[in-house]
Amino acid sequence: ETTGRNTWKSRTGFILAAIGSAVGLGNIWRFSYLTYENGGGAFLIPYLIALLTAGIPLLILEFGIGHERFGSAPLAFHKISPRWEWLGWWPLLFTMFGIVLYYSAVIAWCIDYLFFSTTLAWGDDPNSFFFNSFLQVTSSPFEIGAIRMPILIALLVVWVVNWIIIVRGVGPGIELANKIFMPLLLILTLALVFWSLTLEGAMVGVSAYLTPDFSKLSDPMVWVSAYGQIFFTLSLGFGIMIAYASYMPYESNMTGSAIITALANSGFSLLSGFGVFALLGFMSANQGIALEDVVQESIGLAFVAYPKAISLLGTAGPLFGVLFFLSLTVAGISSSISIVEAFVSGIEDKFAINRELLATLLCLLGFAGGLIFTTQGGLLWLDIVDHFINNYGLIVAGLLECLAVGWFFKIDIIRNHLNKVSKLQLGTWWNWIIKFALPIFLSIILVNQLFRELLGAYGKYSWESLIGIGWSWIGISLLLSFVLAVQPWKTSNHLQNGRGE
Ligand code: PHE
Ligand code: NA
Repeated sequence: ETTGRNTWKSRTGFILAAIGSAVGLGNIWRFSYLTYENGGGAFLIPYLIALLTAGIPLLILEFGIGHERFGSAPLAFHKISPRWEWLGWWPLLFTMFGIVLYYSAVIAWCIDYLFFSTTLAWGDDPNSFFFNSFLQVTSSPFEIGAIRMPILIALLVVWVVNWIIIVRGVGPGIELANKIFMPLLLILTLALVFWSLTLEGAMVGVSAYLTPDFSKLSDPMVWVSAYGQIFFTLSLGFGIMIAYASYMPYESNMTGSAIITALANSGFSLLSGFGVFALLGFMSANQGIALEDVVQESIGLAFVAYPKAISLLGTAGPLFGVLFFLSLTVAGISSSISIVEAFVSGIEDKFAINRELLATLLCLLGFAGGLIFTTQGGLLWLDIVDHFINNYGLIVAGLLECLAVGWFFKIDIIRNHLNKVSKLQLGTWWNWIIKFALPIFLSIILVNQLFRELLGAYGKYSWESLIGIGWSWIGISLLLSFVLAVQPWKTSNHLQNGRGE
């Protein structure tokens, strides 16, 4: 196929890039926190069920859509039916635009903390340092205050790195970066986990991590969290995996690649969970505070709990801190480039724009849009945007993907194609999951979320801020998606069929 389309140089490169997108800030911190909150080891049961019933089948679907329809999300959905093209744009405009802006800001915090680690700059109150000195958080998202210089500078660094990688293209840019980042991340993580496991009290933390509380399994919210985490962690419902799969040459064992990516991502989460809990166990032993209390007061905050632990490590603290924040930065950047690439890929497929110019414009836009998160109101914006993206963006996009392919398209075109190029064969059970099981699960989750939303405004925010930021963003991004979907394509010769027809 000589279409001039970008391609990966090797299947390994593709898998590393997919893992690079999947493994991110969510694996290291969000996963351990959810595990503890939701019953320790017993959370692994809903988590694994969600992985098998939703994560793996949907990742196979996204890889299948991208590879068979042979296009980024907008192009692939256009080829499913021009009436569905908007569904290719909406995740880019709503979910991804929101996520890339705050995700880059959190990476910027990590870079700042990498430097703070060298001098233990947070002193003896990391909590107050984070909220009052570093972020200087205001009391309402509309009170944005001033820009925080250290965050602004680090954010600029993040976008320059994103730009350098993306502008070089798929093979020489993204693939090469992940070939360096992923081994580096694995080494850093193994070192940190083993180090943490040798600390005094570590085993108490680990046993809390692994002690099941089966009573939690009857709580529906535990299941909602498990399904939500699987979407977020596998980068599903963003269009990223569709774009990445479209760069794969014809013979490529796509189903096998999906399973490797999913298992590597969850394996990484399980592994870092040991490190996080070992460290919490150490803090509890060292300060003589019950483990529950250590977890309660700090688990959600990589920027409070870890700094506390790092200070307690004595002379080895700065080294530990630098390694930890470096690992977060590397995990974050390999995810943020995947978001930008999904954008580049969608626009490049549709409009006659040169890739370098496009990458430059999008990185500038990303940096400019991210400025709000460098202000004193930034944390509040982040919290609201994250709430809307996780609870609506991903789930709705996943639900509509299943409906579009399962009900408005011949799903067997995708399945037969996957079976032709892959060693592992998908049975009709997969059709059944995409057509019935997932739409039902995801609708239940969605209705549940909507009810909770109507019963009380999220968090402590006013309805004005939720509507002004969250709901209006849903509306604007939907409108823009419809506008983009009716624009003419640069050429029509790539609009016809996929590779399987
Ligand atoms: N998968 C990432 C994580 O677990 C989250 C993410 C999704 C980041 C999509 C970027 C793009 O952290
Ligand atoms: Na992940």
